[in-house]
Amino acid sequence: MNITWVLGLPTGHESGTFLALDLGGTNLRVCKVELHGPSSAVSQKHTLVQEQYKLPSEIKTSTAEELWAYVAEYLEKFMKKMGLLEHYNREKPMPLGFTFSYPAIQYRIDHGILQTWTKGFDIKGVEGEDVAAQLRHAIERKKLPIELICLANDTVGAMVASAYNDPETIIGAIFGTGCNAAYMQTLSKECIPKIDLKDEEWEQLKSDDGSKSTIAINCEYGAFDNAHRVLPRTSFDEQVDAESPRPGEQAFEKLSAGLYLGEIFRLVMVQLADKGLVFKNQDREKLRKPYSIDTGFLSQIEDDESPKFNKTYDLFKETLDLSPSDQEIELSRRLAELIAVRGARLCACGIAAICTKEGIEKGHVAADGSVANKHPKFKRRWAKALGEILNWHQTDEKQKNGGPIKITSAEDGSGVGVAVIAAMTLQRKSQGNTIGMF
Ligand code: GLC
Repeated sequence: MNITWVLGLPTGHESGTFLALDLGGTNLRVCKVELHGPSSAVSQKHTLVQEQYKLPSEIKTSTAEELWAYVAEYLEKFMKKMGLLEHYNREKPMPLGFTFSYPAIQYRIDHGILQTWTKGFDIKGVEGEDVAAQLRHAIERKKLPIELICLANDTVGAMVASAYNDPETIIGAIFGTGCNAAYMQTLSKECIPKIDLKDEEWEQLKSDDGSKSTIAINCEYGAFDNAHRVLPRTSFDEQVDAESPRPGEQAFEKLSAGLYLGEIFRLVMVQLADKGLVFKNQDREKLRKPYSIDTGFLSQIEDDESPKFNKTYDLFKETLDLSPSDQEIELSRRLAELIAVRGARLCACGIAAICTKEGIEKGHVAADGSVANKHPKFKRRWAKALGEILNWHQTDEKQKNGGPIKITSAEDGSGVGVAVIAAMTLQRKSQGNTIGMF
């Protein structure tokens, strides 16, 4: 679990203009975010313009120099396109919030040492290094008028962006390529022994009105049970792990997140085909290609209500060049369901663990990610499992309307969220509270 130095949730009054950079699994996104704060005449609390660039797949296995040069190049392109180079200079740089959706140890808010790449990334020269410093160098090399203010995990961004609009937000969660969540923890020596501060610094962290201060914690629970002491795994799970770039890591994520669900499905099908049980006498070359099936494939199978499941047939034909029989389609539907149900129920376990530990009984879990947003049955399965774990019985008042802890669609964490964090950081700095920053 990583300390993030995001102190407290936003008030909704934060304002200013920021650059937001999001290094996601498939895209690089650059945004200009204007936070209008409380006194704005516009109905929206923010305006955002953005450009999205597809990350070339070679980048995922390149080097630190190539990665950051690529990122800086697109930051420059964006600034030019939006006419921002005319408004900012090196004396008055544009503040930048950086969403970095990988596990990073943060000694300060504008710093993050990558612990390990996750989600299939394998770029050399970044693990064990401060990614904020690497990005800063690339920005300096290009002489861009940008100042990196904060680095934030996507889960923290989702929580903050959602809390900016919805004060009932308790957790930010990503159920997408990866699986992870962030929550607010009481800021005290007892609650967070990992924080190493002097007594006077603890004093400084106390809020003015004497109420308890809080800090965002990035759980990084995709790495839960890396020692394999708790969760049972099938031979297919073991194979996914063994053939991944980082075997032994992200054990929980490999059972529950979008990057892996399609691959588990594929491995089962390959084994059945090898045993001569499915797709006999058909060309299985495409099925043999690792990661040729994504979670979208499983979602579409489960979503297919066409007579005789024609859509599923077409999907197999288009994606894998296979012609499934009626029984093979039925088998695929059942398998897609089993894999997705297990994933959704595990995702609920992560949130239930936070709520149980913190004694949280109600609120909104602001969720983002392709599985949460695109899988037709994920949210319902997740809510049912959460109710079971937290003992909201079917007849109970609490179970009505989905229970007191609800999954909501997160606001844009990697755009608005990180901009709000940058605004909160600058505000804190101007008030002289600089613990965990700069
Ligand atoms: C992986 C990353 C984590 C991120 C999650 C969702 O688990 O390690 O930092 O929050 O994916 O993107």
